[in-house]
Amino acid sequence: MRVFSLLCTLGFLLKETQAWGFKNGIFHNSIWLEQAAGVYHRESRKGRYQLTYKEAKAVCKYEGGNLATYEQLEAARQIGFHVCAAGWFDRGHVGYPIVKSGANCGFGKIGVIDYGVRRNKSERWDVYCYNPDSKECGGVLTDQQRIIQSPGFPEEYQDQQICYWHIRARLGQRIRLHFLEFDVEEDTGCLADYLEVYDSYDDVAGFAGRFCGDYLPDDIVSTGNVMTLKFLSDASVTAGGFQLQYIASNASLFSHNYTHYFH
Ligand SMILES: *[C@@H]1O[C@H](CO)[C@@H](O)[C@H](O)[C@H]1NC(C)=O
Ligand SMILES: *[C@@H]1O[C@H](CO)[C@@H](O)[C@H](O)[C@H]1NC(C)=O
Ligand SMILES: *[C@@H]1O[C@H](CO)[C@@H](O)[C@H](O)[C@H]1NC(C)=O
Repeated sequence: MRVFSLLCTLGFLLKETQAWGFKNGIFHNSIWLEQAAGVYHRESRKGRYQLTYKEAKAVCKYEGGNLATYEQLEAARQIGFHVCAAGWFDRGHVGYPIVKSGANCGFGKIGVIDYGVRRNKSERWDVYCYNPDSKECGGVLTDQQRIIQSPGFPEEYQDQQICYWHIRARLGQRIRLHFLEFDVEEDTGCLADYLEVYDSYDDVAGFAGRFCGDYLPDDIVSTGNVMTLKFLSDASVTAGGFQLQYIASNASLFSHNYTHYFH
């Protein structure tokens, strides 16, 4: 059932991708970037749409920044920052920047979609922060293969880490993740520290697994040419970290008998 609905979602996404194009030999089916011109999107550690205005401000401040202004969001959008999730920004506004409208995104408009000043500051949304000096881990990876490591590996990773890796392979390719070492603080439900894998160009669609503990996850193979990895650590107890390798290969090289792993 879960696989079926995932496939439906992907079918929809694949149709959507036709509108995107090649850039530097890489087929981008999203120009979604995690960070652009100092602007970045954050959701609560508890998930999507969980932050009050006060909490949203605290998230940005904690990372040494501020709520993004409308002008900063628009500047980021103009270089391709596209996130289909509403967040608080400066002066109590809620909205999101998009460069392409979709079925559930933008109401047929593109630009900074601004819901206006929210009178109720207890409403819960994501947040858009601005910090020109923010130190991020992760990045957009377009190599055919790479080793991905938790920050500081083989040293223990730090507290309060938030990393996104976006793997973009060529059109028609698939990506295989192969875990080499894995040691992330363990708790039931992996709420404290975790690595999440999405079979998608963002951390909204295509959830493929959330991992913690010291059990080495099985290989994960994408259905398309993009994958997103997200690593979060909380304010206490760190562990050894993880190391994995990804390899992009022509889809035809994956035999029909490949297994897609879900956890
Ligand atoms: C404000 O929003 C919160 C969260 O959605 C809700 O629980 C509360 O009732 C709202 N308050 C008013 C005055 O509308
Ligand atoms: C993968 O596909 C591309 C384009 O179809 C082709 O040029 C390339 O030789 C293929 N690579 C392998 C290893 O089969
Ligand atoms: C999957 O198929 C390939 C080639 O088609 C074959 O070499 C391999 O042994 C198969 N693996 C399994 C687990 O059946």
